[in-house]
Amino acid sequence: MRKLRTQVGIVGAGPAGLLLAHLLHLEAIDSVVLESRSRDYVERRVRAGVLEQGSVELLNESGVGERMRREGLVHHGIEVRFGGAGHRIDFPELTGGRSITVYGQQEVVKDLVAARIAAGCELRFGVGDVAVHDVESDAPRISFRDGADEFELACDVVAGCDGFHGICRQAIPTANLSVFERVYPFAWLGILAAAPPTHDELIYAYHERGFALYSMRSPEITRLYIQVAPDEDIADWPDERIWQELHARLETSDGWKLREGPVLEKGVTGMRSFVAEPMQYGRLYLAGDAAHIVPPTGAKGMNLAIADVRVLAGALIGFFKARRTDLLEAYSATCLKRVWRAEHFSWWMTSMLHRFPGDDGFQQRLQRSQLDYVVSSRVAAASLAENYVGLPFA
Ligand code: FAD
Ligand code: DHB
Repeated sequence: MRKLRTQVGIVGAGPAGLLLAHLLHLEAIDSVVLESRSRDYVERRVRAGVLEQGSVELLNESGVGERMRREGLVHHGIEVRFGGAGHRIDFPELTGGRSITVYGQQEVVKDLVAARIAAGCELRFGVGDVAVHDVESDAPRISFRDGADEFELACDVVAGCDGFHGICRQAIPTANLSVFERVYPFAWLGILAAAPPTHDELIYAYHERGFALYSMRSPEITRLYIQVAPDEDIADWPDERIWQELHARLETSDGWKLREGPVLEKGVTGMRSFVAEPMQYGRLYLAGDAAHIVPPTGAKGMNLAIADVRVLAGALIGFFKARRTDLLEAYSATCLKRVWRAEHFSWWMTSMLHRFPGDDGFQQRLQRSQLDYVVSSRVAAASLAENYVGLPFA
């Protein structure tokens, strides 16, 4: 057993773990990041694509925004499409000048990994048997295997940034955790296509055949999603069937056409709302998907992970530099306010835009009324816009 020591032991090298390590490094606080997957795997994993303005600002302020500023696509609105027509929601106009940036999650991850390696800081990929110990004490430890070697990492604090299926949340006794959850009766089938986008902004489409989302990653790559059954077998979805469904749900009579291209990647994602409270147990702090999940309709998952570590980094800086414990004590309550706002927004967008199995005329008319209201009332549109671009930090 080889012994190591650090101030903050970070489990998981997703956006949460990597950004936390980066923000701590800027303040000369030592951390070790442990990731079970390979570098190649985490840098290729296709997931979220929308950054709130506050997330963009944090990445820029902390010096990892150079490629994002060059390659990210700044969007000033989205389109909501239903009943055969599109309706634009203008973000700057409705939010006092705010916007979003389309930049793939794996690009954020690549930039953060590069910064970590350039700084010569510890980041181990492909580690196994990760377990946390003594988190109730002032001297928590993380044990893990790296190749043939067993390690024990002594820490002051452990950050559980290991996603929804990680081990950190599970290390908290069930009696000390309250879980709130909704599972939705549908999933998203997502594709990445080598097809230049034919629309400048994202399109959220409500259609009788089910929800569809038009997004993009670059001037050459389109990202598209359709609502499917929760237990959908991807083998039943050859590319032609996916394109057929996308054409049917996204195209309107105004002549706009979706451009097809070779499918580079496809996968099915389940839809869930989940919050574990509090986001802390002893010296173990949970951040990002380890503590909460939102259905992807509001594009909030990665942004919430970034918002959590902004708060956690500030609290840890106060702890290590000024011996303050109040910020760490407030960590969970501070984050949960934003988390529950995003939970509500994501649930609301999901409920408004999807077809539910067994829904009846009453429910469909309520959805249509809500959609009509959102695109015709300035106040309702402003509420959507304010949540979508991200509420200011407290
Ligand atoms: P993650 O990115 O999950 O990172 C956690 C890391 O911990 C992973 O690298 C994992 O390999 C590692 N890990 C896990 N267990 C261990 C362990 N025992 N030891 C060491 N490391 C471990 N959000 C959107 O807004 N829009 C989308 O379209 C969207 N699509 C998604 C598609 C999928 C398939 C998934 C799973 C999520 C999607 N999300 C989406 C959500 C968004 O990607 C997440 O909210 C975001 O990744 C959260 O970042 P994180 O760092 O908290 O967790
Ligand atoms: C993307 C994903 C989302 O969940 C969303 O709401 C908007 C865009 C995307 O992958 O581009």
